[in-house]
Amino acid sequence: MKWGIIATWAMAYEGISKAAKELAEDSIAGDALEHSIKIVEDNPLYRSVGYGGLPNEQGIVELDAAFMDGDQFNIGAVAGIQDVKNPISVARKLSNHQFNRFLVGQGATAFAQKNGFERMNMLTDESRTIWEKRVEEMKTKDLSPYDGHDTVGVVCLDHRKSMAAGTSSSGLFMKKQGRVGDSPLSGSGFYVDSEIGGATATGLGEDLMKGCLSYEIVQLMGEGLSPQEAANKALYDFEEKLIRRKGKAGAMSLICMNNEGQWGVATNVEFPFVVATEEEEPTVYIANKGEGYSTIIDKATKEQIEKCE
Ligand code: GLY
Repeated sequence: MKWGIIATWAMAYEGISKAAKELAEDSIAGDALEHSIKIVEDNPLYRSVGYGGLPNEQGIVELDAAFMDGDQFNIGAVAGIQDVKNPISVARKLSNHQFNRFLVGQGATAFAQKNGFERMNMLTDESRTIWEKRVEEMKTKDLSPYDGHDTVGVVCLDHRKSMAAGTSSSGLFMKKQGRVGDSPLSGSGFYVDSEIGGATATGLGEDLMKGCLSYEIVQLMGEGLSPQEAANKALYDFEEKLIRRKGKAGAMSLICMNNEGQWGVATNVEFPFVVATEEEEPTVYIANKGEGYSTIIDKATKEQIEKCE
């Protein structure tokens, strides 16, 4: 049986490389996925996930994360959690609970503390400096929140044909306190069914959650579309609808993999992502929207990868 793993953004390369080794040695999908996301959360250089993530308008880092097991549809999620090193691990722990699977704010933080998850101040000096500069700029300029959209999202398939999906994000820079994006929302930020496949999203949560695009892609794969066909159809149909009805659509990118290890991606912005399968070394690709509901996918050059880092 084949294994495979796909993740949003070049920042996932190190985590995916480690997860690929684990999957080749027969690790289960949930473990490989959690380890890959923890590596991104722990890296202070990534400004949109975990330690070093940019804060909300009060200067507080509020983190969102989710974990889903595609065998039993177990979902766990946290939103607005603070001072916890690895939100993905808290989300995974919650996925094993019968009730109270999605905790927010103080409740999520208290749960993590009570259950022994490592606590730390997630605001780095560098991120505080970026925040202070933006606060000053906003006194004189009419700036909207930074529209970066770099959630780490992973879909993973193991040798047993079990699948998992997960996300982790600090959300929009300068977001309102308590703002939650798509990342912890089932169906929008992520979805996985081991009998079909899984998908995760990155982009403007306020638009992604209007379309439940991760669920839509899994359903389309279930109807027989290839992962690439499903991603193209779900995203570009919805983008067209948003533009027709509201006049604009925010940045949206989705990755997906079916339970054969075939993968797909669709995006309306330039979008690096990482794939590793039994047949393919960890590889960074760059996707762009093509003509007529298509996606152009190229292997990233060394220069492009360095630019992403
Ligand atoms: N996609 C992440 C967010 O909007 O918070």
